[in-house]
Amino acid sequence: MLSSENMPAERLTIHHLGVDSDAAEVKETDNQFAADVRQGLSSTPKTLYPKYFYDELGSQLFDAICLLPEYYLTRAEEEILSEHADTIVRAAKDIAPADDGGDVRLALMEFGSGSAIKTQRIIEAALRVQSELVLTSIDISVSALERAARVLLQLFPNLSLTALAGDYDAALDFLHDTQPHLAHDATHKDTARPRTLALFLGSNIGNFNYDEAIAFLRRLRLTMRDDDALLLGADLRKDPKILEAAYDDALGVTAAFNLNILVRINRELGADFKLENFRHLARYDDVEGSVKIYIESKREQIVHLKGLEMEVSFAEGERIHTENSHKYDHATLSAMARETGFDLAQTWLDHDAQFSSNLFVAGN
Ligand code: TRP
Repeated sequence: MLSSENMPAERLTIHHLGVDSDAAEVKETDNQFAADVRQGLSSTPKTLYPKYFYDELGSQLFDAICLLPEYYLTRAEEEILSEHADTIVRAAKDIAPADDGGDVRLALMEFGSGSAIKTQRIIEAALRVQSELVLTSIDISVSALERAARVLLQLFPNLSLTALAGDYDAALDFLHDTQPHLAHDATHKDTARPRTLALFLGSNIGNFNYDEAIAFLRRLRLTMRDDDALLLGADLRKDPKILEAAYDDALGVTAAFNLNILVRINRELGADFKLENFRHLARYDDVEGSVKIYIESKREQIVHLKGLEMEVSFAEGERIHTENSHKYDHATLSAMARETGFDLAQTWLDHDAQFSSNLFVAGN
């Protein structure tokens, strides 16, 4: 539970959006999880939503993934942000002059902030050029938000934080409802409002398929004004061997992360998945440019989900699809920007050109 105990209350605002977060006491949450698991395991092929990876253990296992030698993504993006954070912040400020002719103030907003370690690079850079900063952090994991808030508020005395606990849809609904000045409202310039630099880091965007990514970016654009910006992390296409290793590491941390969704179903929905009867699988589809993640049944078996009064049978080799991680190239990213009301203003790469950070500027 996200509590403001020992946190500077005047610098922290928390909104529980009540959807899918791992706060056990939110009742609709359990129902939504139950309904989605029922639907996913009744479909052919079987599927589970990746957002359900991120219970407390899942969020920590993901942090462990980010430290794996095979998972180059986090290191590559950290390299980009360490090296270019000042340039990125400057680029966002220089998109257009402030309406009153003064220096543009930035506000940050991060989707899927997790442990917010990479966010620190951008916060530091922003606080080098302005004295105060407001950050809105959105994450499905209340425990991750809580840990990140403690660290960030301690590290940065001039930072104020609004935490939105919920999934992206709930957060976008909230932003739509609470932001009076929506995009395209050029007649209604509010000079007091800082320019938003939204952050969507890691391989978050890659977990959407193309149409979902477009829909997400369009909805995000509607919460932004012209000249606001989005820093979008996107993993790049590369050798399938490197990609498959990144999603199937030798230590088995990624396997544990993937299979933890079954542990969660056992715990929260009274199911009896036997983990030794399932295996983690990651396959790169070079045509789609996507690493596909599955949980595969090692044998024919029946699983009981007491909480759902449901039985699910598995054939040997049958898979539950749990995630896609899409890989991009520059042409696709700039087409996506154009289709969703942005311009791809600038792209930064790490030294090995494995990963990209892209500045999308909200245009007309
Ligand atoms: N967003 C991360 C990615 O696509 C999530 C992730 C990393 C992941 N490893 C995974 C999801 C393994 C499922 C299974 O890179």
